[in-house]
Amino acid sequence: MTNDTDRKRDVATAFGGAADGYLEGDVLKRGGDLEQLVDWCRDASCVLDVATGAGHVAGALAETGVSRAVAADLSPEMVATATTEYGGLEGAVVDAEGLPFATDRFDAVTCRFAAHHFPAPEAFLAEVERVLAPGGVLAFEDLCVPDDPGLAEYVNRLERLRDSSHVESYSRRQWLDWLAETGLTAEDVRETSRRLEVDAWLDRMDVPDDDRQRIRSLLADAPAELEDAFDFQYELGGEETRLTSYRTGVVLYRATA
Ligand SMILES: C[S@@+](CC[C@H](N)C(=O)[O-])C[C@H]1O[C@@H](n2cnc3c(N)ncnc32)[C@H](O)[C@@H]1O
Repeated sequence: MTNDTDRKRDVATAFGGAADGYLEGDVLKRGGDLEQLVDWCRDASCVLDVATGAGHVAGALAETGVSRAVAADLSPEMVATATTEYGGLEGAVVDAEGLPFATDRFDAVTCRFAAHHFPAPEAFLAEVERVLAPGGVLAFEDLCVPDDPGLAEYVNRLERLRDSSHVESYSRRQWLDWLAETGLTAEDVRETSRRLEVDAWLDRMDVPDDDRQRIRSLLADAPAELEDAFDFQYELGGEETRLTSYRTGVVLYRATA
């Protein structure tokens, strides 16, 4: 068994146990970003949501009246949660890097806040390109990191300490390079950010105390460029200055086949 296969099995197990939290959690349930992804697919009738989680994107797509919406995820529990919660969805337990669908099958594919779990994102893009009909749309969103490799690694270290299923977040530039190599054309690319409340962000993954301490130490020692780029916000209480929140990078793009 390869390391990637082991890793994917662990990811499916970890997310399987977290399906209810992903269904109810406000962070993913709604937002302007979700509306943007759905809007980018407005002309589609047959759509695939890869790494659907609790199905928020697939459900929103189904509500637009598409003729077929497939909610696909590595975790069977996530697929069951998505198809139970949202009407009109077809569920599929699939690996994003080996999609079991025919060539040219869909006219839109979405993928939101999941690619940082994929060991081989280029393989995922190649599969998206294959299952999209000519002119079909990929509407994508994920965490992203600064171009500077040192800062990027710093952010990924923090993310991995918080969540062992985090493989890597990439820069906007890296995604554009991969799109070009795959033959998908980037039509609209946006780099934005999302404010994270540090305690709530750690609570969501139930991070043990010793890892919390390590993450807080890493944040306290973060390079000044990162502190600026991520807009660290502090609370002054007594003798302690506590980091309360920061803005993490996010990339969204619409690309066509
Ligand atoms: C943060 S959740 C996704 C959230 C969801 N897209 C939304 O917008 O609400 C990440 C999901 O990626 C899935 N996942 C991770 N690796 C995967 C892979 N290789 N193939 C398919 N799904 C994967 C996990 O099982 C999990 O459900």
